[in-house]
This record gives sequence, structure tokens and C-alpha cells, in this order.
Amino acid sequence: MKIAIIGTGYVGLTTAVVLSYLHHDVTAVDKDESKLSLLHEGKSPIHEPGIQNLLEEVWHTIRFTPNVAEAVPGAELILIAVGTPPKKNGEADTRHVEQAAREVAQVCLPNKHYTLVVKSTVPIGTNQRVAEVVENVFSERGIRGNISVASNPEFLQEGLALQGAFYPDRIVVGANSEEAVDTLRRLYKPILEQTFDPPSEFPRPPSYHLPPMMTTDPNSAEMIKYAANTFLALKISFINEIAGLCEEVAADVTEVARGIGLDARIGHRFLRAGLGWGGSCYPKDTAALLGVAAQSGYKMPITEAARTVNFRQRKRIVEKLREALSTLEGKTVGILGLAFKPNTDDIREAPALDIIRELLAEGAAVRAHDPIAITNARQALSQRDDTHDSRLHFTEDVYELPYDADALVLVTEWDLYHRLELRRLAKQMKTPILIDGRNVYSPEEARAAGFHYIGVGRT
Ligand code: UGA
Repeated sequence: MKIAIIGTGYVGLTTAVVLSYLHHDVTAVDKDESKLSLLHEGKSPIHEPGIQNLLEEVWHTIRFTPNVAEAVPGAELILIAVGTPPKKNGEADTRHVEQAAREVAQVCLPNKHYTLVVKSTVPIGTNQRVAEVVENVFSERGIRGNISVASNPEFLQEGLALQGAFYPDRIVVGANSEEAVDTLRRLYKPILEQTFDPPSEFPRPPSYHLPPMMTTDPNSAEMIKYAANTFLALKISFINEIAGLCEEVAADVTEVARGIGLDARIGHRFLRAGLGWGGSCYPKDTAALLGVAAQSGYKMPITEAARTVNFRQRKRIVEKLREALSTLEGKTVGILGLAFKPNTDDIREAPALDIIRELLAEGAAVRAHDPIAITNARQALSQRDDTHDSRLHFTEDVYELPYDADALVLVTEWDLYHRLELRRLAKQMKTPILIDGRNVYSPEEARAAGFHYIGVGRT
């Protein structure tokens, strides 16, 4: 199938290479010249396990262009995968989605049928709005266009994007037209029937079952995306709230999570207590959902509480440090991990950034390590002039981190950190305090290595 994809961010690029791997004819459009020049050299602008190799594998067939007119007219299906950044009041800004729809409609051929699919995470009602935008352009052009608009929310998890694209739990399609549903069923046929040869880096999991394609109306499809992210966000906040109480009553939250997770109705996933969620999705989408609710005058106290609990986790870690060190003024703190989660260089809404800012504000010196996110973190922090602060240093050698430090804080649970020689770290420190913000280490192991160990929800 001939496909045009508008936007080559995490969602757009992953979708483009996966659909190209499944033998669709893909042209991806992006206006960002620096991204395009990387893509034209066959280099991925995003860090995502496996994406570089897959991009090289489909290199001879996939095309990248800044020009919608090159990609859209001949396509049967057009996917919009542009960003919906938060506005100041938290609502999602759909300007780029509407602009993309407008540009698409401007170059559509009269009388040819297209399916226009919105993959971006958008407030409920946006598909309807996109259909209106398209119709307006057609009437301005004085042509009879023929476009079916459909919602196809994306459930991609950074760091696991390709795995999730080849082996999704489900595919959700919201459309009012049978034709659009049929086109999307043809698009995803190799995934729905698992008829493709798995790439060597992404073998089919032995227990994987064929995924259902759920079809519904566009508003419900848009709501499914927000409800799914909000549910996962509140599951994490729930266990973090329990973790706080565990500390008060000398219980261990990792044991509690294991015990409740064994109940099939609850399940064990997304019950890891720690520093809570960051990234480009949960913070933005929970705020956007509250924005949608506010417009209807509807209150969502559970979603609000999930956000409060989440951002409190970051402050609690700094409080634990303050308590352990008596004061932060003049102390040196090593930060293990800057990315919002492992296997990505994404630092958007990363807990590490808030923690570093707070530590610097209280007069501490900070030394920070991350396997791949240092460049992004440095840039994000410099926007606030923090790097001009001589008290902030980044290091690429994790074993330089503890030198003369008063405490270490594990913020991101990179694999590398699971394998650290704890004894070697502890020995170099002024005071061997380890705040384990993701409960990576066993308290016994850390203590045996010489650390004063403080986890989350474990005494
Ligand atoms: C999330 C969803 O998982 C995807 O399904 C969705 O498509 C995506 O948002 C999106 O809307 O684009 P993502 O933000 O990439 O994906 O990452 P997650 O793996 O869900 O983790 C989010 C945050 O929760 C991370 O900061 C992680 O450290 C934290 N987390 C996760 C916990 O603190 N505890 C857990 O048990 C699980």
C-alpha cells in the first residue's frame, strides 16, 4: 500500500520503518531540516533500540521528504504523527495536526479516495475537527474531495517501540466509514495475522497471540488513548502512595506489589514504586485529559491526585537526602541516570532534571552520569542557566561519580547500574549514602557493600 506519514518523531519514524519493513511503500514527510539531513544519510534522529538497523534494512525503499506534495497525492493512506505539545494551561495543542490536515487536503487529487489517519494523541473531538478542516480546504479549492478520516491511537512505549509495533496488544481504530476500517485492516494485515518474517533483533515472543483490531467511533478511540495512559499513570502513583505509607509502618512495597500483583485482576506490571513517571506522555496526557474535563466543567479528582502523588515523589527523594546529610549546602551528590527511563535519551519531564535543579538551588554540587542522555540533559539544564553553575558536572565514566561524594542517587534504572561494583563505588565516597530511587538494589547487598541504603517504600 502506498503510504504518506507526516512527522518523523518517535511515533512517525517507528511507524514508517515498521510499515516499510512490512513491504508497504512509505514516504515520510518532515519539515525539520536537521532531522531530514540525518535521515537522508540513513541515520536515525532518535535513540530507540533497533531503529538504526531497521532503518538501514529498509533504506532502499523508504523515502523522506520535506514536501507534502511529493508524498500525498499518490498515496492511498496518510498518517498524521505530528506533536501535540501542551499549552500553558495543560491542554493539548492540536495546531500542528490541523496544519498537517490542511496541507494534505491542499494536495489531494480530486475524486481520488484517501484515508487520513490521526495517530497523534489528540483531545476528544479532534478527528471531527480534522474532517472539517479538510472539507473547508476542498471547498476553498472548489473540488470534490474524497477523504475518510480515522483515529488510530498509538500505544508505543519508548525504549520498546519496535517490539510494541511488531507485537502490539491491540490495534484500535475509530472511524465512521467502513472503507477507512477496511484500509486500516489491509495496512495492518501482516501484524494482525503475524505473517511477516520477524527481524532478527525482534523475534516473535513464543507466547504472543494474534492481536485484536478493535473498531469503534472516533471519539471513543481518542478517549481510549487518554484513558489507557491515565490508568497506567495512576497505577504507578497508587503504588507510590502505598510506598510512602510502607515507610511509615515498616512494610516493604516491593513485597506488597508482588503480593497484590499476583491477583490476576490487578496484575504485576506497572507496580514498580520509585521516582514516578516522566517522559512526554503521562505528564502531558494526564494534564490534557484534565483540560478536556475542565472544558465540560467536569472534575477528575483521581487523575488530579495521580499527578500530585507523582510529582511529590521527586521532592521526597530530595527530602530523604536532606535528612541523611543534615544539610545539602556544600555537599556533593552523584546522580545515576538522567533519561526519564532506561533505553532512551529522552529527558522530557525527567525526574533527574527536577532533582538536580533542587539540589543546585539548595547549594549542593552535582555530578551526573547517563549512558546516552548527557547531551540532551546538558541542553535542557542550560536553558535555565544551571550549567553555568560551576557546581554541575557531567561525567561519562560512572566510576568517577562517587569520588569524594556525600551521596549517590539512582534516578534511572539503566541495566548498567544493575551491574555496578557497589563496593568500589562506596569506597570512593566521603559518606557512602545510596538513595535508590527505583529500588534496583537489594538493601542487604547494598549494605554489605558498605552503603547506608535508602530505597523507596522499604525500611
Ligand atoms: C507510555 C505508554 O506506556 C505507552 O503505551 C504510550 O503509547 C506512550 O506513553 C505515549 O502515549 O506515547 P512511555 O512514556 O514511553 O509510554 O513509557 P512507560 O514505559 O509507560 O513509562 C513511563 C514512566 O513511568 C517512566 O518514567 C517509568 O520510569 C515510569 N514507571 C513505569 C514507573 O515509575 N513504574 C512502573 O512500574 C512503570
